[in-house]
Amino acid sequence: MLKPLILVTGKDGQLGFELQQIQKNYSSQFDFLFVGRKELDLSVPETIASFIEKHQPKYLINAAAYTAVDKAETEAELAFTINASSPSEMAKVCKEINCHFIHISTDYVFDGKKKSPYMPSDQTNPINIYGASKAKGEELILEHNPQSIVIRTSWVYSSHGKNFVKTMMSLMSERDEINVVNDQIGNPTYAADLAEAILQIVSKLNNSNLIHSSIYHYSNTGNISWFQFAEEIQKLSSHKCRVNPIASVSFPTPAKRSSYSVLDCSAIQKDFGVEIKNWKSSLATMLNNLESNPK
Ligand SMILES: NC(=O)c1ccc[n+]([C@@H]2O[C@H](COP(=O)([O-])OP(=O)(O)OC[C@H]3O[C@@H](n4cnc5c(N)ncnc54)[C@H](OP(=O)(O)O)[C@@H]3O)[C@@H](O)[C@H]2O)c1
Repeated sequence: MLKPLILVTGKDGQLGFELQQIQKNYSSQFDFLFVGRKELDLSVPETIASFIEKHQPKYLINAAAYTAVDKAETEAELAFTINASSPSEMAKVCKEINCHFIHISTDYVFDGKKKSPYMPSDQTNPINIYGASKAKGEELILEHNPQSIVIRTSWVYSSHGKNFVKTMMSLMSERDEINVVNDQIGNPTYAADLAEAILQIVSKLNNSNLIHSSIYHYSNTGNISWFQFAEEIQKLSSHKCRVNPIASVSFPTPAKRSSYSVLDCSAIQKDFGVEIKNWKSSLATMLNNLESNPK
C-alpha cells in the first residue's frame, strides 16, 4: 500500500535539515519529498499550486521562509511574497486536495510588551517587517484553510546553517571578549527538537481524527537573555573569551527587536503530547553534534 507523502519545503534551512536527519525514524509510516528553492521557489507564488497538485502530498510542512530579519527592512516586498503570499497559496491548494498544512511562524509576530509568556491566542503586533510578513502569512493561511496548523517558534539554532550559537562559537575562537545584549528575553529552540515535535504531530494526525487548534507555540523551556545564552555556549565549549552583558541600545540593528518574546508552549504539549526539552540540555546536545560532525 502507498504510504502518505510528506512534502517539506526549505530543505536547505536549519529546520529542513533536521527534518531530513530524522526522516528515517518515520519511514515505515511515510514517504518524504524534501524540496529547496531550486525545485519550488517561494518568490513565485503562481508556481505553487501546480507543484503541490502534481505531487499530491497528504502533509505539507512549510519550513522555508525569508528569515533575514534585518535585510527584510529594505526587502519588504520579497519578504511578504515568501512569508505571506506563497504560504497563503499553499494553504489554499492544501484545502482543495485534502492535505494537512503545517506552517512555521515566529515569536516576532508579537511586540514584546507583555510581561508573561505569550499564548497562541494573544494579539499579534509585529514591530519589524519580517514579523509583519510572518503575521500576514498566519492571517492568510487561517483565512483560506482554518484546518492548517501554525507553529510559532523562537531563537532557532542547529549544527547546520547560520545561527546565534555558531556565530558565538566563531567569535569566541577569534576574540578575547565579546559583548552580548542582556535585555532581550526569549526561548532558544534546537531545530532538531522542533523537527521531532513536528513529525510526532504529523504521526498523531495520521493515526486519528484529532481535533486541534490552529496556532501552537514550540520552543525549548527556559527564559533567558542572549547574554545568558552566550555565557552557556562559552561554558560548554570551554572558550577563554570573556562575555560581557550590554544593553540593546548599544547594539543598534536595522530591524527592531522585542525585549520579551517568551512563548507559552503548554497547548502543543497538551494536544499532541510532544516532549519539550530544557534549553541547556538541548544546547549541550547540539554542541556535541557539532563537535562530532563539524560544518
Ligand atoms: N531562525 C530563527 O531564529 C527562527 C526564529 C523563529 C521562527 N523561525 C521560523 O522557523 C522556520 C524555519 O527557519 P530556519 O531557521 O530553518 O530558517 P533558515 O535556516 O533561514 O532556512 C530557511 C530556508 O528557506 C529557504 N528559502 C528562502 N527563500 C526561499 C524561496 N524564495 N524559495 C524557496 N525557499 C526559500 C532558504 O533557502 P536557501 O537555503 O536556498 O536560502 C532556506 O533553506 C521559518 O518559518 C522561520 O521563519 C526561525
